[in-house]
Amino acid sequence: MVDNIQIVEALNAVLTDLTLQEISEKLEAPKSSDLGDVAFPTFTLAKALHKAPQLIAADIVDAIDQEGFEKVVATGPYVNFFLDKVATSNRVLKTVFDLEGAYGDNVDGQGAKVTIDMSSPNIAKPMSMGHLRSTVIGNALANITAKNGYAPVKINHLGDWGTQFGKLIYAYKAWGSEEEVKSDPIATLLKYYVEFHEKAKENDSLNDEGRAWFKKLEDGDEEAHRLWQWFRAESLKEFSEIYDRLDITFDSFNGEAFYNDKMDKVVDILEEKNLLVESQGAQIVDLSHINPNLTPAMIKRSDGATLYMTRDLAAALYRKETYDFAKSLYVVGGEQREHFVQMKAVLSLMGFEWADDIEHIAFGLITFNGKKMSTRKGDVVLLKDVLDDAHELALKQIQEKNPALGDKDTVAEEVGAGAVVFHDLMNDRTNNFDFNLEEVVRFEGDTGPYVQYTNARAKSILRKTSVQLSSDDLNLSDPATWDIITTLNNFPKTVQRAWQQREASIIAKYALNLSRAFNKYYANSKILTEDAQLNARLVLVKSVSIVLTESLRLLGVKAPEEM
Ligand code: ARG
Repeated sequence: MVDNIQIVEALNAVLTDLTLQEISEKLEAPKSSDLGDVAFPTFTLAKALHKAPQLIAADIVDAIDQEGFEKVVATGPYVNFFLDKVATSNRVLKTVFDLEGAYGDNVDGQGAKVTIDMSSPNIAKPMSMGHLRSTVIGNALANITAKNGYAPVKINHLGDWGTQFGKLIYAYKAWGSEEEVKSDPIATLLKYYVEFHEKAKENDSLNDEGRAWFKKLEDGDEEAHRLWQWFRAESLKEFSEIYDRLDITFDSFNGEAFYNDKMDKVVDILEEKNLLVESQGAQIVDLSHINPNLTPAMIKRSDGATLYMTRDLAAALYRKETYDFAKSLYVVGGEQREHFVQMKAVLSLMGFEWADDIEHIAFGLITFNGKKMSTRKGDVVLLKDVLDDAHELALKQIQEKNPALGDKDTVAEEVGAGAVVFHDLMNDRTNNFDFNLEEVVRFEGDTGPYVQYTNARAKSILRKTSVQLSSDDLNLSDPATWDIITTLNNFPKTVQRAWQQREASIIAKYALNLSRAFNKYYANSKILTEDAQLNARLVLVKSVSIVLTESLRLLGVKAPEEM
């Protein structure tokens, strides 16, 4: 469904060289609402039409059919549309009311598959805030993907393979104990890993021992495999607690180990195409002819062991074969940018045109009250603690604001976890940001709880009335409701933009805008007054709650009925 269809069609009748789609993509919101409801900028037409944008705008206004609009005016290089308020209010509110959660559904994707590599924490280490980012951004993008008609496949590419497991096996065998691991698995394994690095600083031969154990693991050694499997299972148990708390599921847990027997194929193709070069005993693919700044992709180490890159190449092939994806997204921190540039370059050299469909969805660093985190040094902020603290803070506010609420604990969990997730998604994903829990869990300001609270407030109004809502006569034309109606009208376009830019923050910012518009209205209006417009106002309230609930769903945030 294309919103603003009337505008697009009116413009198309004048600008016959542009498609409906091209026109629709150019529409934007005017700088301020007194300039109009929808703006069409003419800058990009200037070259083709050999005319100044101001003149183009004026010509369009002269030629356009103004029927059905309040007015259409040229303001400098913009054509600004003032929508007919009564007609728009009727159309928008009826559409939301009838479609409910399906409002904004876009069928463009036609069911094509989009694989989303997300979360992908490393076994035997705590899940970091970076992995949390990947998890929640990936999950929101999966929901947005589906809303745009694609079929997302959520893949948890667990870091369950690599030299570090050789080091861990060595450390466990040299100074670890079974009981200690059992009592607190990830913390203990992390401790062994940190100790290994301390000892290896004094004694480099430990690194060789670690490498040797990884080689054994790759070659299927029984003891190595048993220990590895145990470490993996214990780690997954802990990760699952977090996934359950966030209510996030995966379609596949095929991690790096899964590709152990699928890498030969990659090496074969590389050999066949003469792409492998030897460098200091290692096998590499030179990429300098593609971009002189690009370091070579390492495929095999001098001892024959494969690498992160080799497994990612095998995974890319496997995903194309298994899912025949239209797009393949990798939600991974910006620090791995070069890795994905290399990966795509190697796949292109191998002759796979679909390498162009691979996208690294990078994101920025997260700091916690100003501090960076590093697992190597063992100083980590545990996600579980963050969620527990968020829960406590939410509970405190609920107790103050709504002491009569039943099941406060469930709501506090939905609000606490929702606050953490919303905060993560509210910033453009490539921005770095700091995490201050007190601010994140506030019920006012740019927070998830503010959106949840607004939605709960709308729901509570609807509970107070016994009026049977109807979709007739939804004529709200007063300025107080207009802001809400135009925002509701923009939802379908917002959903499309979030997908085009792979930006969940577009939905989060939208939800904040709609919440602000609604709260302003709520503070200044008597919604429940018995008059001719009561039904229309209640449908407006209902529409706000439908769209807020759907926005929160897309973000992976719960929408409590009461809080
Ligand atoms: N486990 C990796 C890490 O924590 C992230 C994996 C991302 N996915 C991928 N296909 N490389 O750094």
